[in-house]
Amino acid sequence: IGAAAMGMAMTANAADLIKVGYAQVGHESDWRTANTKNYQDTFTEDNGYSLELVDCDNDHAKQIEAVRNFIQEGLDYIIIAPIQSAGWDTVLQEAQDAGIPVIIADREIDADESLYTAWVGTAPHDEGVTAGKWLGEQLGDKEANILQIEGSVGASAAIGRTEGFQEEVDKHDNWKILDSQSGDFTQDGGQQVMESFIKSYEGKFNVVVCQNDNEAYGAMDAMDAAGITYGVDGDVTLISYDATHDGLQYTLDGKFNLDVECNPIQAQTVSDVIQKIQNKEDYEKKTLIKDEAFNAPGIKSEFATEITKDILDKRAY
Ligand code: AHR
Repeated sequence: IGAAAMGMAMTANAADLIKVGYAQVGHESDWRTANTKNYQDTFTEDNGYSLELVDCDNDHAKQIEAVRNFIQEGLDYIIIAPIQSAGWDTVLQEAQDAGIPVIIADREIDADESLYTAWVGTAPHDEGVTAGKWLGEQLGDKEANILQIEGSVGASAAIGRTEGFQEEVDKHDNWKILDSQSGDFTQDGGQQVMESFIKSYEGKFNVVVCQNDNEAYGAMDAMDAAGITYGVDGDVTLISYDATHDGLQYTLDGKFNLDVECNPIQAQTVSDVIQKIQNKEDYEKKTLIKDEAFNAPGIKSEFATEITKDILDKRAY
């Protein structure tokens, strides 16, 4: 086959690909890195896609701009993992006017359902409830003086975990959230917030809740530096969210008492929705990706599974 003919064949193939834009939150955490890789591995040319993935660097304005660029380029589908839940109506309307289906992924948004095509994600509110119920089960009648390191301000993953956990806190007269500050879902943020918590509350807290694994790594560094012990053999119960490989390793080692899963492997479910739309088949408006929770070995719980080396070895991210 001649080069010109090959060129034509390649052009024809490229035209057949489904053009997808993914406005990704950023690169703030190991969870996010795993989610990005999952999209890159799934939305491949071999699978019939061309993927334009934009890292929006946790900046809402950049994310809106990325979506507007996708609209201008006339992509076939737009996927958005919303950095913040508010502020989407205008650009979603623009996508709708351009006839481009939008799939909201990972997090939730405050927008009328008619403004987007489908949603695929996890349930942060339920994750917060799980963390609270687990803590209640483990503490029994003991009091809890809690410090919480929240995720990024305005992100549904942070709002949901905070609200779900608070609901359980409210059921216990002898539980108190001493302070709750954003660590922006980053290790540095977690460390800085924990350092300032230690200055204000040293000796006064017995529970630390970090809204993702990276924040928990930072919090551990801060507690290590201050000589505060945590985990199954320590003075402080440490709860995290995400259950990435390293988070589960810390759980297996007894450094985290509990790691509530948030599953970043979502791309195939999003692709399934797109394929159904392509084939003019019925699709689910909302698909929930299932989460579990894992606690340190030797802890029996109705709300979490004891982590094992076997579970850890199967966790690829
Ligand atoms: O939206 C999911 C959250 O975002 C994860 O918990 C966190 O690690 C990420 O940055």
